[in-house]
Amino acid sequence: MRPDPSAQLFASAIARVCPIAPRRVLCFDATPEIVTLPALATARVVAIQGWRPLHDALRASGAATRPDPAEDDLDVDLALVRLGRSRVRNLAAIAEGTLRLAAGGTLIAAGANELGAAGHARLAGARDSIAGFHGRAFWFAREAAPQAATLAAWRAAVALTAVPPDGRIGAPGAFAWDRVDTGSELLAAHLPAAIAGRVADLGAGWGFLSLRLGATSPRIETLDLYEADHASLAAARANLKHVAAARFHWHDVATGLPHSPYDIIVSNPPFHDDRGADIAIGLGFIRAAARALRPGGTLWLVANRRLPYEAALRAEFAHSALVDARDGYKVIAARR
Ligand SMILES: C[S@@+](CC[C@H](N)C(=O)[O-])C[C@H]1O[C@@H](n2cnc3c(N)ncnc32)[C@H](O)[C@@H]1O
Repeated sequence: MRPDPSAQLFASAIARVCPIAPRRVLCFDATPEIVTLPALATARVVAIQGWRPLHDALRASGAATRPDPAEDDLDVDLALVRLGRSRVRNLAAIAEGTLRLAAGGTLIAAGANELGAAGHARLAGARDSIAGFHGRAFWFAREAAPQAATLAAWRAAVALTAVPPDGRIGAPGAFAWDRVDTGSELLAAHLPAAIAGRVADLGAGWGFLSLRLGATSPRIETLDLYEADHASLAAARANLKHVAAARFHWHDVATGLPHSPYDIIVSNPPFHDDRGADIAIGLGFIRAAARALRPGGTLWLVANRRLPYEAALRAEFAHSALVDARDGYKVIAARR
């Protein structure tokens, strides 16, 4: 995927749309590049970012950052929405931003063409837009925003939702939010029957693997779920509220694990971030697991079969074994 064009697009759009410098700005799915744009230098900017690595980078750049808007993030002159891969999340952010505009305020959304920026502009009924950097920015004033019922529906569409048939909770727009991932299902089928001690689930999503462990292994002392996506972790919290050993960490696994050592770590690591495929993320998970296991502790991992994790596993672990390979996935057990 091409580099994210949203910061350049916002800069161009703000120059056209804002005759005077905005005073209060709310930026959804913010990045450090956006909040430090010169056009925002004199504004009070609040960055909304539920993805922990970006949240940490924003904090490090000095930005006021939170995973969700606060009740008093209201009456802003300018709302910026960076478009991502999830349409349902994009539309919810457009709704959230619009509802927080002051009279006369403007919302600008921007993103790459391949994310469907033009389609989002049509849905929002935005008549004004600029194209460039392989992307598009579009905008509308509060007075020309989509109707209240449309905004309410877009906003409601990302609320935590009970998923049939069992009613467990999902966060719309998150990874496999309304299904069980095939790789995770395969890993769960191979996990030892009765795990005990200190356990971690890296990239826990809505909690599928931890739920299985909670159901089959009553001798687990602590079960730490680490997840970078704030909404996914909220779903996991709801799904595991009856599991006393469970603890929930909104955390970037690539930075290491704060509560080690562990006896067992389970993971279905991500192999892409929000902008494209990147094997480095999975390798970071393997390294973090190796460092957080006690000697003799085991990492149970499932991965897409074609992902070359073997060299990293050999470098980081004393033994690693292919336990199963099917349906395009491989299950590996690696002992420290
Ligand atoms: C392949 S999914 C597996 C989800 C879940 N374990 C399951 O079985 O459904 C990988 C998960 O890792 C999370 N993730 C990606 N990068 C992360 C990071 N740096 N730190 C923590 N979690 C991350 C993603 O949000 C996603 O939920």
